[in-house]
Amino acid sequence: MRQIRITRFSTAISEIARNTVTHGGGGMMELAHEAFDGRRWLTATFTDSGAGIADIEQAMSDGFSTAKSLGLGLGGAKRLADAFEIESTPQGTTVKLACRLT
Ligand SMILES: Nc1ncnc2c1ncn2[C@@H]1O[C@H](COP(=O)(O)OP(=O)(O)OP(=O)(O)O)[C@@H](O)[C@H]1O
Ligand SMILES: [Mg+2]
Repeated sequence: MRQIRITRFSTAISEIARNTVTHGGGGMMELAHEAFDGRRWLTATFTDSGAGIADIEQAMSDGFSTAKSLGLGLGGAKRLADAFEIESTPQGTTVKLACRLT
């Protein structure tokens, strides 16, 4: 149901926003409507210019945190959003989340 997907998406957005601020040193978020794969989507793209994530697979796993926190943000956001992409280099991190609208 669309309303449930949007609620889940909102929680995913808040986790990635928190990462952008606490790990990425701040950044930008762009919200957009997009069409791909024959559907309409609400997307949220976060970019920062922080030091990046050395091992993305490790960072995605539940319980891994370099900040002595729960380490559930990235994995949780991936499960809550309908689509999830992450790219990270020593120059910064980009995370794109998508919520399926149609
Ligand atoms: N934007 C980012 N820039 C640099 N490192 C990041 C970024 N986002 C996540 N990370 C790294 O990935 C790890 C895992 O992120 P995740 O959100 O899963 O856990 P957390 O933020 O440490 O804890 P929690 O979100 O559960 O409070 C972080 O501890 C951090 O090392
Ligand atoms: Mg986090």
